[in-house]
Amino acid sequence: MNNRESMGLRLRNGELSILDQTRLPGEELWLRIDTVDDMIEAIGSLRVRGAPLIGVAAALSLARMAEAGAGEGELAEAGMRLRAARPTAVNLMAAVDRLMPGGKVLEREVSMREAEAIFDEDAARCESIARHGTPLIEDGDRILTHCNSGALATAGVGTALGVIRRAHERGKRIHVLVDETRPLLQGARLTAWELGKLGIAHTLIGDGMAAAMMALGEIDKILVGADRIARNGDFANKIGTYSLAVLAHYHEIPFYVAAPTSTIDWNCSKGGEIPIEERGAEELRGFGGLRWSPPGTPVRNPAFDVTPVALLTGLVLETGLLPGDALAVGGLEAFLRPTTRS
Ligand code: MRU
Repeated sequence: MNNRESMGLRLRNGELSILDQTRLPGEELWLRIDTVDDMIEAIGSLRVRGAPLIGVAAALSLARMAEAGAGEGELAEAGMRLRAARPTAVNLMAAVDRLMPGGKVLEREVSMREAEAIFDEDAARCESIARHGTPLIEDGDRILTHCNSGALATAGVGTALGVIRRAHERGKRIHVLVDETRPLLQGARLTAWELGKLGIAHTLIGDGMAAAMMALGEIDKILVGADRIARNGDFANKIGTYSLAVLAHYHEIPFYVAAPTSTIDWNCSKGGEIPIEERGAEELRGFGGLRWSPPGTPVRNPAFDVTPVALLTGLVLETGLLPGDALAVGGLEAFLRPTTRS
């Protein structure tokens, strides 16, 4: 077992910990994750979050269980429960499946090597996404982003935010408009925190303000991440992404998605087949112990929405930039070789 470290996850001398993202930006609290049950709780409560990182985290916790000598039946059962911890980001299922190909668990030593490879591949994919995405960013760009697609959400520099970071480091002057991202405020809490650490100029806006900012000509492009991409190019991302895509179309603003190929679900032919997580009512009725809605107010809380490929200007993968118009005609198969999940 070798050490691994990212902004939100650490594997050190056999001990696995996560940075509790529910406590940011107030407190940088690292939590030890000793069991698969600890990891399922951390994923479900968004202490660890972001499509790529929950896959990496789940794989490492399952591999540690294997190293500790768990039996095949126990591991298979734990793997199934990890897969079900959140339903939308396919990276979670894909990572667990790599440790249990065809439902059969890998041998103990192979398991940890595979989990470490998932970590390393994700970090490398982030760098390639940034390399392909950087040319899209022009000096002086004002870029709107939604949710958090940065280092906190991956094992590397991030996807959409990784592109912004590397472009900034190459000297491009960028101003990031950070969508607050209701209801759990991943933009206001996490993206603003990351951008602050990186010294990238940014301004926080409420989700409902994006349309006005576009109409005022204050947004040059939009760059977001994804949680699952269907074969035809439709994709799910944090709730509110679809509204941004529709607004971008109306205002003729380029709208890009950046994601690793591990976010593609070849078993899913179109966006309508992507399972959308519905979260608890309390997330809408208040936040952080403060409740602003009358108790019992009926709530809908879908955590993700689906953006149709027709609204995409381009998809940045680690393999390169796929233009939205060609993607809308031929789907991902026009560019990549499909792989199917067990
Ligand atoms: O519910 P979350 O915070 O896990 O949602 C995350 C997102 O929607 C991100 O945009 C997505 O995972 C991209 S991560 C690089």
